Amino acid sequence: MKKRILIIGASGQIGTELTARLREIYGNHKVIASDIVEDSSGMLQDGPFEILDAMDYDAVQDIIIRYEITDVYLMAAMLSATAEKFPMKAWNLNMNSLFNVLNLARDHKIDKVFWPSSIAVFGGTTPDENTPQRTIMEPSTVYGISKLTGERWCEYYFKKFNVDVRSVRYPGLISYKTSPGGGTTDYAVDIYHKALKHKKYVSFLGPESTLPMMYIDDAIRATIAIMEAPKGAIKIRSSYNLAAISFNPEEITNSIRTRIPEFEISYEPDFRQEIANSWPNSINDQEARDDWGWDHEYSLDQMTQLMLDNLTGQY
Ligand code: SER
Repeated sequence: MKKRILIIGASGQIGTELTARLREIYGNHKVIASDIVEDSSGMLQDGPFEILDAMDYDAVQDIIIRYEITDVYLMAAMLSATAEKFPMKAWNLNMNSLFNVLNLARDHKIDKVFWPSSIAVFGGTTPDENTPQRTIMEPSTVYGISKLTGERWCEYYFKKFNVDVRSVRYPGLISYKTSPGGGTTDYAVDIYHKALKHKKYVSFLGPESTLPMMYIDDAIRATIAIMEAPKGAIKIRSSYNLAAISFNPEEITNSIRTRIPEFEISYEPDFRQEIANSWPNSINDQEARDDWGWDHEYSLDQMTQLMLDNLTGQY
């Protein structure tokens, strides 16, 4: 089967690494990277790149037709912390980009869609520990509201129009190649940079703010695995819970101290603390494991080794 992939939001934290991995698997020219800004990292240069505004239906359609795209990964979104500052902008971006892609899939312009949801779909009334797939969902952030709404639309388009849309609820993602932008879990990337650079870090979350997290390689593997699974295996068409590790700022500090004993952390919680408080501590992802064979690989300490080994050269 001929496969041509479009990644929308390819310059972001996930998009960059997803593009690289998909190009390894399917070949550089089969994977079209796109973003609203030029690629400044140089990491998307091995194959086609297009400037694309995910909210511009005609522009998205034009690229899909021109490149004969079969699969779309829609990674463009405004994350939780930034979305609180620009609520309408976040809502418009997160929703309109999804409708553009779902409508193109409904009209048979593409075969398959990946759209990421998030742990942000949960809220303060959700059970905190081992949060089940189906539970109380009352998100209190603009980002969480947009993701939960998006999930309902994905399932609707699957049931009503047989759109083959697949989704996971990503936890906080940690990578050394690219940085996240504007999320509540971003501290878990920044802390490694500051540990190497200054041997100290000021955390915007308190010591006991435990959140679900994942090393980027696991996240990329999950993304491609759910997209490659047979259609019948995907039983949840809203979004799958997805889990790997859970930790808080104190625990990641202890992990870093096994390599950098003099590393110091202090705490100055800001508005992101309230967002973190509303999200679960840990996630039950049994259905992803049962339905399409998901299993995570990286522990907190393994991730710490990789992050510090790979970032050392920068400082
Ligand atoms: N990492 C995201 C955020 O903090 C959650 O999906 O906004």
